[in-house]
Amino acid sequence: QGYTVAVVGATGAVGQQMMRYLAKREFPVKELRPLASARSAGQKVIFHGEEVVIQEAVPTAFDGVDIALFSAGGSVSEKLAPEAVARGAVVIDNTNAYRMNPDVPLVVPEVNREAIRQHKGIIANPNCSTIQMVVALKPLYDRYGIERVIVSTYQSVSGAGWQAIDELQQQSKALLNGEEISANILPVGKLSKHYQMAFNVIPQIDVAQENGFTLEEMKMVRETKKIFNDSSIGVTATCVRVPVMRGHSESVYVELKSEFDLDEVRQLLNNAPGVIVEDAIEEQVYPMPVDAADRPEVFVGRIRRDFTHPRALNLWVVSDNLLKGAATNAIQIAEALISEEK
Ligand code: A2P
Repeated sequence: QGYTVAVVGATGAVGQQMMRYLAKREFPVKELRPLASARSAGQKVIFHGEEVVIQEAVPTAFDGVDIALFSAGGSVSEKLAPEAVARGAVVIDNTNAYRMNPDVPLVVPEVNREAIRQHKGIIANPNCSTIQMVVALKPLYDRYGIERVIVSTYQSVSGAGWQAIDELQQQSKALLNGEEISANILPVGKLSKHYQMAFNVIPQIDVAQENGFTLEEMKMVRETKKIFNDSSIGVTATCVRVPVMRGHSESVYVELKSEFDLDEVRQLLNNAPGVIVEDAIEEQVYPMPVDAADRPEVFVGRIRRDFTHPRALNLWVVSDNLLKGAATNAIQIAEALISEEK
């Protein structure tokens, strides 16, 4: 009974949450197969109270796997996702490798669950910043239509993996102790320049593109259009890394296609699946990453009419990037997948 589930990147920040969430949601796992690099092979993880040995992620490790959750970087997905599919697995990929591939559905279950049916072996999990934004935009899109979105993000370091979390901790301690700091990971590990993250903000996430935007910013633009299946939505983004451990925040300006009533907007958001409204500025109630950490929902607050445009709104959207932004969304896709099969 149940499914053989591989987690690729089992030692990583997202992979660990994936395993935790599989257990928490009581996903029907017959066998868990944690996979990572050769460096981690032989180490153990605890799943449902039992030790499971991590194996090296090589093609044969996918023999007999039904569902493979990938979160070990784009190059690992490019190499191994086709191997997993060739062995009969359905891949749910958390990296950027396949998101814009026309044969690969890009899915946020609250928004476009039905797209899962079109998969040919691989289903992509969107970028963390995109996921939380589209969950909040979905009820507004359905009711009023969306003309344009201007988003600025305040993204936590956990989006860049364990090493980035460690780097922020080390730098913070060193600076408070008056010691020298080192920077080796942020903003982008593989680039040559690295900057201090502690007590700083860095306006770069992922590599530069020819148009002057970063790849992270262009992911938000392209993925939003693909998820809504609507290329007419205008999206422009500025993505910024802030010294927060966990939880991404976003300032979202949205121009709707038709007139709206602010109370109705609040009600729509209140009733939207996966959304929790925390919105009472006069009582200092609004979402913050420290409160959203370790919770699976998308939190929306600071809901207000914009006074520069008759059909525009401002929102503040916060969610745990490791959960709804990654692991939770991936497991929700897996749940939708197995319920379609039934
Ligand atoms: P490992 O710990 O063996 O290096 P994070 O996003 O937190 O940085 O984690 C990245 C995850 O991807 C880790 O689980 C890491 O495993 C895994 N990983 C990195 N490179 C490879 C690889 N070549 N093959 C398989 N897994 C990899």
